[in-house]
Amino acid sequence: MRVIIVPDYDALTEEAARIIKKEIEIKPDLVLGLATGTTPLGVYRKLIQFHQEESLDFSKVRTFNLDEYVGLSPKHPMSYNYFMWNNFFRYINIREENVYIPRGDIKDLQAHCRWYEQKIKQVGGIDLQLLGIGRDGHIGFNEPGSSFGSRTRIKTLTPETIEDNSRFFKNKEEVPKYAITMGIRTIYEAKHCLLLASGKTKARAIRECIEGPVSAFVPASFLQFHPQVTVILDEQAASELQRKDYYKHSEKFQRQLEEDLK
Ligand code: GLP
Repeated sequence: MRVIIVPDYDALTEEAARIIKKEIEIKPDLVLGLATGTTPLGVYRKLIQFHQEESLDFSKVRTFNLDEYVGLSPKHPMSYNYFMWNNFFRYINIREENVYIPRGDIKDLQAHCRWYEQKIKQVGGIDLQLLGIGRDGHIGFNEPGSSFGSRTRIKTLTPETIEDNSRFFKNKEEVPKYAITMGIRTIYEAKHCLLLASGKTKARAIRECIEGPVSAFVPASFLQFHPQVTVILDEQAASELQRKDYYKHSEKFQRQLEEDLK
């Protein structure tokens, strides 16, 4: 795991957006896994800026979102589909047919989950998967207890997640109880995972994810097995890490090495 600790949220979004930009420049038809939530919002804003000011081209990029609430149509203002179009896609030159977001309003959800997995396979897998983390260590909507072998499927949300996500709804009762989410195995198969966390509320989940034992209890901890993971944290999210100073030290030398090898 490459752990990059930056002073604040702005620096975090800058760093993450630059990594994504670089990968799109190297591979214009990049398959990009995307996440919702407050954390990636700044990254999307930065990528829009790169598109508008530096002509970053999304015309060949394919995207797959991690998850969607069950029961909400794509037009519902709280759906993740709406979130993605409203905060990102409408401002860039992505083609609608290249955007994949699970549908939560389909009758045969099981068949839809299988179709989603199939689609990811068909395009050759996800190149770069952007990830946030829940307070309980979930990624996508893979709540604690999710199997390492899991694929896209329906998950029942924990009361903690419902509580956290109720801030976007009128009240807690309105938050859907289920979500459709890429599984741990689906995420694990992405070639590069980019995990972001900001703020004190994520500090424990980050410590457990990076330094704790790998356990289904902290779904994000499976990333310790993944060969290419970049974690970008602001100081607050990194505040409970035991080896924080080492990560900073090692990142400094890593950058130096990259410069020397140019
Ligand atoms: C939701 C999403 C996750 C996201 C998490 C944290 O549960 N399904 O993908 O990582 O929220 O969101 P935030 O970035 O708003 O803290």
